[in-house]
Amino acid sequence: MSLVTGKEILDKANHGYYAVGAFNFVNMEVLKAIAGAAAEEKSPALIACSEGAIKYAGIKNLVSMAKAEADASGMPLCLHLDHGKDFNVIIQCIRNGFTSVMIDGSHLPLEENIAITKKIAEIAHAAGVSVEGELGKLSGIEDNVSSRESILTDPAEAERFVAETGVDSLAIAIGTAHGPKKFKGEPILEIPLVAEIKKRTSIPLVLHGASSVPADVLEKGLKYGAKWEGSKGVPEASLVEAVKGGINKVNVDTDLRMTFISTLRQVMSEKPESVDLRDLFKPCMGAVKDVVRYKMRLLGSSGKA
Ligand code: G3H
Ligand code: 13P
Ligand code: ZN
Repeated sequence: MSLVTGKEILDKANHGYYAVGAFNFVNMEVLKAIAGAAAEEKSPALIACSEGAIKYAGIKNLVSMAKAEADASGMPLCLHLDHGKDFNVIIQCIRNGFTSVMIDGSHLPLEENIAITKKIAEIAHAAGVSVEGELGKLSGIEDNVSSRESILTDPAEAERFVAETGVDSLAIAIGTAHGPKKFKGEPILEIPLVAEIKKRTSIPLVLHGASSVPADVLEKGLKYGAKWEGSKGVPEASLVEAVKGGINKVNVDTDLRMTFISTLRQVMSEKPESVDLRDLFKPCMGAVKDVVRYKMRLLGSSGKA
């Protein structure tokens, strides 16, 4: 099957009240793990590359691998640019076969964010490519009003942003953050905000910084020498609640990285004699595939392809 657009996958999820994972990859091993999980779960998936991933692997390599895996898996996979900030990179992605791009103007003042997002949406839509915008700041919230107001997505602004930009999906801020250390103390998330924003926008909503940092993965990493103390992710129950409120795309990178690295550490310590990369990478791919399959079931996308 050819790569499909983000809109095709996410509109279906919006109408069906479930979410689809957007899984980051920078190499063949993680991509194959995600595509393999999609095939086994009969699930759609977004396969996401950051600007850093493109710099690391090369855009043509990433696009060719993504197309090959979409064909081989037979599943609806969307190749998505994650956190596009550089206008030229976004245009390169549209020209080279990405089927969805994110324009991340969340660091800009509202008017500038609207202007650049609208411009990208016009260009991308003319090429048949979907667009995700972002409003609000990806950052943990403290338990006080001023911190919340400067970070969380404002529902009235979200309504205006969606109407004026024409985006196909919107990333919102409810207190999650990127990376393994999301919360200093207990997780604080503004889950009811999801439904409020959904009521005003109706389009698919996106949750970034959604890794859970599974306990067994963290434990394995620590056991084999990773310095990951203090890691804390989004509780799975909160993710499920956010999906019920109207989140349709859930971004996961950190969990896949930690799974790959902790497994690599284990295999390297157990097979110190190995001089074959395949001996080392195969178990890592298997472990990542299992985590992706678990997410697909949790988010409700299994069986939806
Ligand atoms: O949201 C960020 C993703 O985890 C990608 O991270 O820019 O280090 O590739 P990266
Ligand atoms: P995590 O760091 O929680 O995996 O978030 C990934 C993400 O939001 C990619 O855009
Ligand atoms: Zn993100």
